[in-house]
Amino acid sequence: MRSKVAIYPGSFDPPTFGHMNIVERGLGIFEKIIIAVAHNTSKRSLFRPEERVALLKKLFKGRKDVEIDTFEGLLVEYARRKKTNAILRGLRTVADYEYELQMSFANKNLDPKLETIFMMTESRFSHISSTIIKEIAYFGGSVKGLVHPLVAKTIQAKLKERA
Ligand code: PNS
Repeated sequence: MRSKVAIYPGSFDPPTFGHMNIVERGLGIFEKIIIAVAHNTSKRSLFRPEERVALLKKLFKGRKDVEIDTFEGLLVEYARRKKTNAILRGLRTVADYEYELQMSFANKNLDPKLETIFMMTESRFSHISSTIIKEIAYFGGSVKGLVHPLVAKTIQAKLKERA
Protein backbone atom coordinates (compact mmCIF):
# COMPACT_ATOMS: atom_id res chain seq x y z
CA MET A 1 0.00 0.00 0.00
CA ARG A 2 1.43 3.40 -0.97
CA SER A 3 0.34 6.19 1.24
CA LYS A 4 0.07 9.89 0.61
CA VAL A 5 -1.48 10.43 4.00
CA ALA A 6 0.55 10.25 7.19
CA ILE A 7 -0.71 10.12 10.73
CA TYR A 8 1.16 12.35 13.17
CA PRO A 9 0.14 10.91 16.55
CA GLY A 10 0.93 12.32 19.94
CA SER A 11 -0.27 13.85 23.17
CA PHE A 12 0.05 17.48 22.01
CA ASP A 13 -0.47 18.67 25.59
CA PRO A 14 -0.02 21.43 24.47
CA PRO A 15 1.02 21.67 20.80
CA THR A 16 4.37 23.44 20.42
CA PHE A 17 6.20 25.23 17.61
CA GLY A 18 8.23 22.00 17.34
CA HIS A 19 5.07 20.01 16.53
CA MET A 20 3.91 22.64 14.05
CA ASN A 21 7.28 22.57 12.33
CA ILE A 22 7.13 18.78 11.91
CA VAL A 23 3.67 19.12 10.33
CA GLU A 24 4.84 21.81 7.90
CA ARG A 25 7.92 19.85 6.88
CA GLY A 26 5.96 16.60 6.76
CA LEU A 27 3.74 18.23 4.16
CA GLY A 28 6.80 18.49 1.95
CA ILE A 29 6.66 14.69 1.76
CA PHE A 30 3.01 13.78 2.29
CA GLU A 31 -0.05 15.27 0.65
CA LYS A 32 -2.01 15.24 3.85
CA ILE A 33 -1.23 14.89 7.54
CA ILE A 34 -3.69 13.73 10.15
CA ILE A 35 -2.72 15.09 13.55
CA ALA A 36 -4.09 12.42 15.88
CA VAL A 37 -4.43 13.37 19.53
CA ALA A 38 -4.16 10.26 21.70
CA HIS A 39 -6.80 9.78 24.38
CA ASN A 40 -5.16 7.07 26.34
CA THR A 41 -1.63 8.09 27.22
CA SER A 42 -0.52 7.42 30.75
CA LYS A 43 0.83 10.97 31.11
CA ARG A 44 -0.90 13.43 33.42
CA SER A 45 -2.36 16.05 31.15
CA LEU A 46 -3.06 19.76 31.40
CA PHE A 47 -5.66 19.82 28.62
CA ARG A 48 -8.43 17.36 27.88
CA PRO A 49 -8.08 15.70 24.44
CA GLU A 50 -11.02 17.72 23.09
CA GLU A 51 -9.34 20.95 24.26
CA ARG A 52 -6.14 19.96 22.46
CA VAL A 53 -8.14 19.17 19.33
CA ALA A 54 -9.84 22.58 19.52
CA LEU A 55 -6.44 24.29 19.89
CA LEU A 56 -4.94 22.38 16.95
CA LYS A 57 -7.98 23.17 14.81
CA LYS A 58 -7.43 26.87 15.46
CA LEU A 59 -3.70 26.61 14.73
CA PHE A 60 -4.29 24.91 11.38
CA LYS A 61 -7.53 26.69 10.48
CA GLY A 62 -8.23 26.76 6.76
CA ARG A 63 -5.67 24.08 5.94
CA LYS A 64 -7.12 21.43 3.68
CA ASP A 65 -3.98 19.31 3.91
CA VAL A 66 -4.16 19.02 7.70
CA GLU A 67 -6.84 17.02 9.51
CA ILE A 68 -7.20 17.09 13.28
CA ASP A 69 -8.61 14.03 14.97
CA THR A 70 -8.46 12.02 18.19
CA PHE A 71 -8.09 8.32 18.74
CA GLU A 72 -8.51 5.85 21.55
CA GLY A 73 -6.81 2.50 21.77
CA LEU A 74 -4.05 1.23 19.53
CA LEU A 75 -2.44 3.41 16.92
CA VAL A 76 -2.23 0.48 14.48
CA GLU A 77 -6.01 0.07 14.61
CA TYR A 78 -6.49 3.77 14.05
CA ALA A 79 -4.10 3.69 11.07
CA ARG A 80 -6.10 0.81 9.60
CA ARG A 81 -9.32 2.78 9.97
CA LYS A 82 -7.67 5.77 8.28
CA LYS A 83 -6.37 3.49 5.50
CA THR A 84 -2.77 4.55 5.75
CA ASN A 85 0.43 2.80 6.81
CA ALA A 86 2.56 5.89 7.43
CA ILE A 87 3.22 7.26 10.90
CA LEU A 88 5.19 10.47 11.25
CA ARG A 89 7.17 11.23 14.43
CA GLY A 90 9.66 13.95 15.30
CA LEU A 91 13.02 13.14 16.90
CA ARG A 92 14.76 15.74 19.02
CA THR A 93 17.65 14.24 20.92
CA VAL A 94 19.10 10.81 21.64
CA ALA A 95 16.82 10.75 24.68
CA ASP A 96 13.86 10.43 22.31
CA TYR A 97 15.48 7.66 20.33
CA GLU A 98 15.03 4.76 22.74
CA TYR A 99 11.37 5.54 23.40
CA GLU A 100 10.63 6.02 19.70
CA LEU A 101 12.47 2.85 18.75
CA GLN A 102 10.46 0.86 21.28
CA MET A 103 7.19 2.32 20.03
CA SER A 104 8.01 1.72 16.38
CA PHE A 105 9.02 -1.90 17.15
CA ALA A 106 5.81 -2.44 19.12
CA ASN A 107 3.74 -1.03 16.26
CA LYS A 108 5.63 -3.06 13.66
CA ASN A 109 4.97 -6.22 15.69
CA LEU A 110 1.29 -5.42 15.82
CA ASP A 111 1.14 -4.57 12.12
CA PRO A 112 4.18 -5.29 9.93
CA LYS A 113 2.81 -3.05 7.18
CA LEU A 114 3.00 0.02 9.38
CA GLU A 115 6.00 2.28 8.77
CA THR A 116 7.20 4.96 11.17
CA ILE A 117 8.96 7.85 9.46
CA PHE A 118 11.17 9.91 11.76
CA MET A 119 11.92 13.52 11.05
CA MET A 120 14.73 15.23 12.91
CA THR A 121 13.50 18.31 14.73
CA GLU A 122 15.12 21.54 13.56
CA SER A 123 17.84 22.43 16.05
CA ARG A 124 16.08 25.66 17.08
CA PHE A 125 13.22 23.50 18.41
CA SER A 126 15.22 20.61 19.84
CA HIS A 127 14.93 21.86 23.44
CA ILE A 128 11.16 22.30 23.32
CA SER A 129 8.83 19.74 24.81
CA SER A 130 5.24 20.02 25.99
CA THR A 131 6.38 18.96 29.46
CA ILE A 132 9.00 21.72 29.68
CA ILE A 133 6.52 24.30 28.41
CA LYS A 134 3.99 23.32 31.08
CA GLU A 135 6.66 23.58 33.75
CA ILE A 136 7.88 27.00 32.60
CA ALA A 137 4.29 28.31 32.44
CA TYR A 138 3.43 26.78 35.82
CA PHE A 139 6.27 28.66 37.49
CA GLY A 140 5.37 31.92 35.76
CA GLY A 141 8.06 31.93 33.06
CA SER A 142 7.60 33.09 29.49
CA VAL A 143 6.85 30.53 26.79
CA LYS A 144 7.13 33.14 24.03
CA GLY A 145 8.81 31.70 20.96
CA LEU A 146 8.15 28.15 22.11
CA VAL A 147 4.44 27.94 21.43
CA HIS A 148 1.97 29.90 19.30
CA PRO A 149 0.60 32.97 21.17
CA LEU A 150 -2.86 31.38 21.16
CA VAL A 151 -1.44 28.33 22.94
CA ALA A 152 0.38 30.54 25.45
CA LYS A 153 -2.88 32.38 26.18
CA THR A 154 -4.80 29.13 26.57
CA ILE A 155 -2.18 27.74 28.98
CA GLN A 156 -2.43 30.89 31.10
CA ALA A 157 -6.22 30.63 31.18
CA LYS A 158 -6.05 26.95 32.15
CA LEU A 159 -3.54 27.58 34.94
CA LYS A 160 -5.72 30.40 36.30
CA GLU A 161 -8.76 28.13 36.18
CA ARG A 162 -6.85 25.50 38.15
CA ALA A 163 -5.42 27.89 40.72
O1 PNS B 1 3.39 12.71 22.26
P1 PNS B 1 3.63 11.37 22.87
O2 PNS B 1 3.03 11.30 24.25
O3 PNS B 1 5.08 10.98 22.87
O4 PNS B 1 2.84 10.31 21.95
C1 PNS B 1 2.82 8.94 22.25
C2 PNS B 1 1.75 8.21 21.42
C3 PNS B 1 0.40 8.81 21.65
C4 PNS B 1 2.10 8.32 19.95
C5 PNS B 1 1.75 6.70 21.86
O5 PNS B 1 1.59 6.62 23.23
C6 PNS B 1 0.63 5.90 21.17
O6 PNS B 1 0.71 5.60 20.01
N1 PNS B 1 -0.42 5.55 21.95
C7 PNS B 1 -1.53 4.78 21.44
C8 PNS B 1 -1.54 3.38 22.08
C9 PNS B 1 -0.68 2.42 21.30
O7 PNS B 1 -0.88 2.16 20.13
N2 PNS B 1 0.35 1.87 21.99
C10 PNS B 1 1.22 0.88 21.38
C11 PNS B 1 2.44 1.50 20.73
S1 PNS B 1 3.51 2.22 21.92
